[in-house]
Amino acid sequence: MARLRLGVLGSGAGSNMQSIVDAIAKGELDAEIAIVMSDVADAKILDRARRHGIECRYLDCSPFRTKLDGAAEMKCVEILKSAGVDTVVLAGFMRIVKAGLLGAFPNRVINIHPALLPAFPGVESWKQALDYGCKVAGVTVHFVDSGTDTGPIIVQRAVPVVEGDTPASLHARIQVEEHIAYPDALRIVASGNYRIDGRRVVIGG
Ligand code: GRF
Repeated sequence: MARLRLGVLGSGAGSNMQSIVDAIAKGELDAEIAIVMSDVADAKILDRARRHGIECRYLDCSPFRTKLDGAAEMKCVEILKSAGVDTVVLAGFMRIVKAGLLGAFPNRVINIHPALLPAFPGVESWKQALDYGCKVAGVTVHFVDSGTDTGPIIVQRAVPVVEGDTPASLHARIQVEEHIAYPDALRIVASGNYRIDGRRVVIGG
């Protein structure tokens, strides 16, 4: 299997991108990050990427507030393709991606969601889990399909909810597991040793 050429899309701090950078640097993931893009001009993810000498782009998504659509989507696909990207990594990208991007990278758009899907799709899912009274929360890395947080699951990791947890403390513990889960999932994709069977990702065999 050829090494992955990743395009990372994020809107925030970029700690997941960092975990991927670190896994590559340690020789634990056969991949390179070709480009990092953000819909937030001053997002920390762009600073982090620059510090590592990774090409960065701001993606102007107006007039849409929560989705990647229209001209921005076309621009995004064009930039990813011209950077030679084969796998798109959503790492805290706060927009719903649509058919234009998904069609350009079939079964090659991956997302991380801070909950054990299918429980708690959508925003602030760690807070949803806490408010619900869950004893276990977690993280899911999945292929993106046309739904919201519904695609085939590659990796999940559980995180216990402890007495006295706040949304911030639970999210911080979930993020520790995210930084293991994303490189793990990308290693599976890089191995090519899986198949998507309906909505299941069958690993090995
Ligand atoms: C993570 O909690 C991720 O699961 C969610 O957004 C957050 C991004 O964090 N989708 P970071 O920007 O990678 O630090």
